[in-house]
Parts: sequence; C-alpha cells; structure tokens
Amino acid sequence: MEGKENEAGYPVHSHDVVIVGAGITGLRAAIETVDQGLNTAVISKVHPLRSHSVAAQGGINAALGNAVASDSWEAHAFDTVRGSDYLADQDAVEILCKNAPEAVIELEHFGTVFSRLPDGRIAQRPFGGGMFPRTCYAADRTGHNILHSLYEQLVGRQRKESENCENRKPSKLSFYEEFFVTSLVKSGESLSEKGSKKEERCVGCTALNIADGNLHGFTCHSLLLATGGFGRLFDRSTNALINTGDGASLALRAGVPLKDMEFVQFHPTTLYGTNILITEGARGEGGYLLNNRNERFMERYAPASMELAPRDIVARAIQQEIEESRGFEGGYVLLDLRHLKEERITERLPGIRLICLNFAGIDPVKSPIPVQPGQHYSMGGISVGNSLETELPGLYAAGECACISVHGANRLGGNSLLETVVFGKLAGQEIGKAFLASGYDRKEAKKAALESLHRENERIKTLLARKSGVKMHSLRDELRKTMFEYFGVFREGKKMEKGLEKLLQLKNRFSDVYINNKSREFNYALIYALELEGLFDIGEAVARGAIARKESRGSHSRVDYPQRDDNNFLHHTLYRLKKGNPVLESLPVRIRKFPVKERVY
Ligand code: FUM
Repeated sequence: MEGKENEAGYPVHSHDVVIVGAGITGLRAAIETVDQGLNTAVISKVHPLRSHSVAAQGGINAALGNAVASDSWEAHAFDTVRGSDYLADQDAVEILCKNAPEAVIELEHFGTVFSRLPDGRIAQRPFGGGMFPRTCYAADRTGHNILHSLYEQLVGRQRKESENCENRKPSKLSFYEEFFVTSLVKSGESLSEKGSKKEERCVGCTALNIADGNLHGFTCHSLLLATGGFGRLFDRSTNALINTGDGASLALRAGVPLKDMEFVQFHPTTLYGTNILITEGARGEGGYLLNNRNERFMERYAPASMELAPRDIVARAIQQEIEESRGFEGGYVLLDLRHLKEERITERLPGIRLICLNFAGIDPVKSPIPVQPGQHYSMGGISVGNSLETELPGLYAAGECACISVHGANRLGGNSLLETVVFGKLAGQEIGKAFLASGYDRKEAKKAALESLHRENERIKTLLARKSGVKMHSLRDELRKTMFEYFGVFREGKKMEKGLEKLLQLKNRFSDVYINNKSREFNYALIYALELEGLFDIGEAVARGAIARKESRGSHSRVDYPQRDDNNFLHHTLYRLKKGNPVLESLPVRIRKFPVKERVY
C-alpha cells in the first residue's frame, strides 16, 4: 500500500481526489475523475460490491417513453415535485430529470443488463407517483446490475493504466477497501473569523484500516462524501447494517449543515419479520394490498392511484390499517401477487420470490406476502448546492448522504438510483473543474492531517481503554427502538419531545460505552461504536427537525398538525452544530416551473 510513513508513524496518502463510499454514486464519480486524469482514491468500509446500492431492487426512472406513447422530462419532473409535496428544489429536479435518459443509456453502454421489451428496447414498469411505465429495471436486481457494471468499468480502467493504454490519459485509481473514515481534515480558517487570511477548506480525512487497526491520513484537493443513508438509526429498516450515516455525521462534526433531516421515508412493503425490501416493482407489476377483511384498502386512501400512490401515502395507509385492527396479528397486511402467475413472477421478480422463500418460508406464487412499513431512505442529508459542493470548500457530497434537494419531503421510487448516477457523474465533473481552477497547500494539508491523526488516535485509545460501563450493543438497540417508536410513520409533538429526551439520555451514556474486544485487527465492535457515536448526532438532527416542523408534509406526518402549512413551513430545515450546540435555520425552496398545489392522488 502506497503512502509514506512520517515521523509520527502514520502513513499519509496524497491524492487529487478522495471519494468516501464505493456505492453507485462513489463509483460513478470515480469514473469521471479518473477519466479526467485525476489521481483518485476510493475509500470504503466494505468491498465496493458489498455497498448497499447492490440491494436496490425495482429500478431507475427515465422518461424514455419505451412502454408508453409519450413521456417527457417535464412530466417526470412534475411527478417528482408533486411526489415531494412541493418541497423539492425545482432547478435541481430539472437537472435530475433532464439527464435521466442519457444516464440510463450510458449505463446500458457500460454493460448494465436491463430487462427488455420484445423489440429489444429497455423495458419500463410503473412505479408509485408516476403510475405509468417509466422505471427501467433489471428484473428486481437493478442496483446489483448497475453497481457491478460501474465496478467493472473502473477495474477496466485500472488494467488499462497498468497496460499503459495509449488512448487514455495517464491516471491513477486506488481502492482503500475496509477502511473506516473517522474524521475530515480541514486547513485554513473560516473566513468569517476576524483577520483570517486563508480560507478554511477540507483537505482530506483520517481513516482506520479495519484489517490491522492502523490509522491512515489522506490529503486531497477535493473530497466527495458518497456514504449512503442512515437507515440503521431505526429499528425496522430495509437498509444494510453498514448504513449508519457516517458521511452525514462527519460533515456535521466538520461544521457543515444537514438539510431536511426530519424527512425519513418508510417503505410500505418490507417483509414482516426481517424488514427486507419487497420492491415497489411488485405493485408495479400488478400486486395489490389486502387487509384482514380481504379488502383492497387503498381504495379508501388513494382511489385514483391505489397501490401506486407515492410511498408516504401507501405506508401511512398500511400503518393505519394495522393500528385500527384491520391488519394481522403482529402488525402486517398482505401483498398478493398470486394472480401474476409463476412465469411472470419468475421473470420479473425472481429475487422477491427467493427472499420470500428463504426468509419467510412463503412462495408468492402460492401465498400472499406479509408486509409492513419499514425505514427505507433518508430524504435529508448533507446540505449541498447544485454543484454538489457543501458550505466547506473542497468538500462535496452526493447520493443518499446528501440533500440537493430533489426529493423534498418524499422521494419517488426509482429516483434514488437515478440520483446516484446523475449526481455522482456531476460531482466528478465539478471536482474536475475545481481542480483546474485552484490549487491547495499540500504541506499544510499534511500538517493538518497529522494533527487530526493524533486526535483520532486518542479518541480510539480512550474507547479501547475503558474496561467497564455501558455495553455498546444494548445502547445501539435502545437508540434504534427509540427512533422507530417516537419518530416513525406517525408523529406527535409531545411524544416526540419525550423521544428527544430519551435520545439525549442515551447519548449521554455514550461516554461510558465500553467494548470487550481490545484488539486492533478486524475489531468490528470498535467500528460499531464509532458508527454509534455518529448515529446519536444524526438522531438528534432528525428529532429536532421533526419537532420544529409543525405541519404534515410528505413523509413527515404529524397527528397534531395533520395539514400541510405552506404559509409557515414551505422551507428547508438546516441543522448545524455551533460550538457543539444544535442550531436550526431555514432555507427557501426554489420553485420554478410548477406552482405549489394541493397533492391529490
Ligand atoms: O421498491 C423498490 O424497489 C425501491 C426502489 C427505490 O427505493 O427507489
């Protein structure tokens, strides 16, 4: 492994660009920076192909119009804005939807194995909020296919480098797999500080090599956070165990605000018992929901769009059926696919059939699937502008860890994969432009990295030295239960206040956390503890944002304020730490083509 050890004994690696996260966003950005000849490092706490993007099932939206008479990016944008309950920034939505067709075709050229129409064009299926076939898919393993094709592209580029291929600019790409980033490195001073001469910027990060427990420093001109969501803040989640919001907590601790954290998406259909995702594609293919009276209850909640209403509406409908005793014992309803018949289920939803067989002992060809809402996605995240740069120069964020904001208060299914490729690419391009426009002081960056390494080393040493106290796992479980119970599908002011109090009590106990495993090699207890520290910060951001927003909009549904309140709350929430204290601010929503209206489905 490259990187010179310095006098303090820490290896410090210098790159033009550091990308943290090797899911679809990170890999798509890396293709861009590598192709521009930038020396790029991709750091990931797991092997890239184990990133959570691999679990994305149902598809990616693009107005290709392959399966309908006509479609347009404007129609896609309108559906996205309406689905967002008018909180999305419409100029960002325009970028997303305009670029969608080209992004999908590019993926096809990269080797993504999309499902096909009989005439060979990319097939499309209906998804919620659009209600007609706009979602391109690779059976029900779309994320898996895309992630693999992007990884192959990068591995191909690495080979070409070593083969000294003539028609490619010399470039350098390094993967740091199973490295956990512990802090961002900054140099300079905030320009708002009196008399400061050098602009404060992000110049790298520190990371723990999970294999041997050694800390490494990284310096760079630009750093992109592409670390995914924070689903594992909640008890019931479709997210991989790795989704602990690391990027958002790193940014927050570096003084960068988070945006719209109160908007947490609950997917309507997660498998009862394990909360594994049962794709919206199952409803797109014609599956329907039944309560314990055998009623298609969506007729009462969204008569025009039924099971293909946006997710927030379907999730609330299911939760209400359960709470009003029309669900089944344990808290679920049924998703019936039997009428689709074996051939179609096997062709379009093979993964779902396997998940049901392996994790619930049910064959959806013969029996309906027990489903309940579970946390799925975070609309909120690190606040970025349309260039994907944060408030801190040199620090970028894209994908689920960021909030640009294209999803507003509720994301449409199929727009997440789209966001990863469109904004991953754009982030790579913007970083390339910034690299050409300005330099940075490498010597100073290295000095700052060393200071951060000393600090991080002390933090880890303290954690490992503690011999008794609070068990990390029990604290983590309590946090997750608290978040699900107090900040779930339905919210209420007094209950949330209690939830915040509980959360803060749990957070205080973190300073007593101890872990039994004291070794440095593959110490996952240590990694989980570091993740947990960040999760507390994120939980607090969600809680404070949710309490302050006294209205119901998209996924944020308050029983004490059931109406949307555009007069007082048609704005984004910004959450930041000032001298360690939480501060809430607001930011206007950018309305362009689509005037704010009532949302009817
Ligand atoms: O239901 C699904 O397949 C999920 C898709 C998404 O979150 O975009």
